[in-house]
Amino acid sequence: MYINKLTLNNFRNYNDQEIEFGNNINIIYGDNAQGKTNIIEAIFLCSMGRSFRSKKDSDLIKFDKSDAKIKIEYKKVDREGTTEAIINSQKTFFINGVKQNRISDIIGKVNTIIFTPSDIDIIKAGPQRRRKFLDMMISSLKPNYIYLLNNYNKIIEQRNNYLKQIHFENKPENMLDIWDEQLALCSSQIFEYRNKYVDKISKNIGDIHKMITNCGKDNEKIMIKYISTGKDKESFLNNIKKSRKIDIQRGYTNIGIHKDDIIFYINERPAVLFGSQGQQRSIILSLKLSELQIVYEENNDYPILLLDDFMSELDFKRRKFFLEKIKNHQVIITCTDKIDLESKNQVVYYIENGKATREI
Ligand SMILES: Nc1ncnc2c1ncn2[C@@H]1O[C@H](COP(=O)(O)OP(=O)(O)OP(=O)(O)O)[C@@H](O)[C@H]1O
Ligand SMILES: [Mg+2]
Repeated sequence: MYINKLTLNNFRNYNDQEIEFGNNINIIYGDNAQGKTNIIEAIFLCSMGRSFRSKKDSDLIKFDKSDAKIKIEYKKVDREGTTEAIINSQKTFFINGVKQNRISDIIGKVNTIIFTPSDIDIIKAGPQRRRKFLDMMISSLKPNYIYLLNNYNKIIEQRNNYLKQIHFENKPENMLDIWDEQLALCSSQIFEYRNKYVDKISKNIGDIHKMITNCGKDNEKIMIKYISTGKDKESFLNNIKKSRKIDIQRGYTNIGIHKDDIIFYINERPAVLFGSQGQQRSIILSLKLSELQIVYEENNDYPILLLDDFMSELDFKRRKFFLEKIKNHQVIITCTDKIDLESKNQVVYYIENGKATREI
């Protein structure tokens, strides 16, 4: 799929801006703090229903204005469509002009995969960042998954409240059985999705990584492993019950898919401990390319790639491999220096102080 046109009104540092994209490589360049990432953010918002960098929607509205609007016109294999977001005291989405009631209804309509330099945190930061990567990927493919996650969070919140009531108010312990059942069931359903998708990644990441790193000598082997506190409803329930005493003491739930993690191994050693900066970066590139392949296989359509400052992270060899891999996709690249990717029909925009000017 590809985006034909993006229209921004009072979004971040833009007033009224239209950007027309080409079907292949689109370069958005300009100095720091001019509004390049804001463009990526606007597209991402229409794709995933929220920003990738701001928790507060009000931050997205231009200072001193009351409403921001983003509109995306896109084309898929079989149809055209629009997604619009209006942000004021709330955030409302429209698909083809029709108001949507749930965020899950808009996720996955515009399929994007985002690459940013901070993706390296998927390896370096804590398990929460890795779960977020996986959850976002699955959500964009299976909207149903979002309901499961929301449901899970509600159960955890209620169970944690009750744990505190047992601890401080001597409420009966056996009432926990209801929450435990629900928690185990929901954990097992989420586990199934996560396990399936980590499995899909692990099936293709090895080959991708070999191609990225193989220049004859530094042949790296990469592995990815999903760690959870159970594998089916019974095992989750058993472990939740075993942890009950500690849960009551601490006032929160210690077992469940909110503790899951993914471990990356490079040559059979954990990449977080033994991978160099460059090796960790290569893993991220392989991981995202692997995601790309999975999204393509499931949707039978190419997602749009959003590369925020990402090309500068790649050396010549990796850049060449990467460009070869993404040649059939629409790619929107931000960079500070105008790069020439020798693509025949590339579109170039120069950004200065919230104004985009087309050059090619
Ligand atoms: N709500 C807002 N209203 C007006 N301006 C805003 C708003 N939010 C952010 N900005 C401005 O947008 C600019 C940052 O935009 P952006 O992050 O897109 O920069 P960039 O071009 O990607 O820069 P870099 O190269 O440093 O990544 C800043 O100058 C910031 O003050
Ligand atoms: Mg930026």
